[in-house]
Amino acid sequence: MPSTPVAPAAVSFQQVSKVYRSAGAELRALDRVTFDIAPGEFFGLLGPNGAGKTTLISILAGLAQASSGRVSVLGSDVVTDYAQARRKLGVVPQELVFDPFFTVREALRFQSGYFGIRGNDGWIDELLAGLGLSDKAGANMRQLSGGMKRRMLVAQALVHRPPVIVLDEPTAGVDVELRQTLWQFIAGLNRQGSTVLLTTHYLEEAEALCGRIAMLKQGRVIALERTSTLLKRASAKVLRFKTDQALPAALAAQARVTGRIVQLPLPDVAALERTLADLRAAGLQPEDIEISQADLEDVFLDLMRDAPDPNTARPAPAQPLEELA
Ligand SMILES: Nc1ncnc2c1ncn2[C@@H]1O[C@H](COP(=O)(O)OP(=O)(O)OP(=O)(O)O)[C@@H](O)[C@H]1O
Ligand SMILES: [Mg+2]
Repeated sequence: MPSTPVAPAAVSFQQVSKVYRSAGAELRALDRVTFDIAPGEFFGLLGPNGAGKTTLISILAGLAQASSGRVSVLGSDVVTDYAQARRKLGVVPQELVFDPFFTVREALRFQSGYFGIRGNDGWIDELLAGLGLSDKAGANMRQLSGGMKRRMLVAQALVHRPPVIVLDEPTAGVDVELRQTLWQFIAGLNRQGSTVLLTTHYLEEAEALCGRIAMLKQGRVIALERTSTLLKRASAKVLRFKTDQALPAALAAQARVTGRIVQLPLPDVAALERTLADLRAAGLQPEDIEISQADLEDVFLDLMRDAPDPNTARPAPAQPLEELA
């Protein structure tokens, strides 16, 4: 029987490890990272500072070499088939780097030339409009504000219409309105079939945009799931209240505190009873108590806290809290 050809993954990471060595010390920045991103996915790569996100993206973009493992883009290996892989990728780097002597349009034409594309002004105009940079086309790169430079990095990454778009903190320092413009534009490209890999510390962005998410902690994948599944995780309910008083130590260790607002995870009904009893015992009088659905930030903080061994699965909840919400 003829076998059906299987379409290659948009991005494939297989057992990717990276060890940095400096001054005799070794740092394992990535530890056997393995996952695939399917064509057309909007995929989030999340993790705290230093988790290894940029290292993984640098290896994908051919800017750094893995110590071991394999990475490919739509079937092209990033080491043995570098030119093909690079052409299929548009990478928005985390660091702002520019040639200060070009204007915006010149830089985009130059970048097109790098990929052997001539007469690209139609698409360049579309990119500038989509990213709110049309009136800056003739401006020198030095004259752009920080947020405009970051949008320019996005335009540069997309100039050769890559099927796979990689964004490393694209909205750091970009104002709210332009963040929305940027997301509309990227979401539009995704609807037309582009694959998107995004890292961000704005978890509400990841929650809104990404269909699937990988979480990295100290170089290891500790979660790899659909966003909706992550949000339904065991302790995906929280107790929220306001207080000016200090929390008892046991609760403080698991609380997420924003000013006067305290949030505590509620894995099950027993935890709710226990928490309320602990608050009462500590003489604390919480105001505006409510039980609500945890957001991605709660799940993220939970996972990061509870993942000493990245390979251990979390236990199922004793009793779901659905009735209480
Ligand atoms: N060139 C390098 N030499 C040595 N160590 C490095 C190098 N680049 C990164 N590291 C280390 O590797 C680890 C992962 O760094 P990386 O930049 O990948 O993290 P990140 O997840 O992108 O963090 P952030 O959210 O802060 O951008 C960190 O401990 C960092 O100090
Ligand atoms: Mg980074």
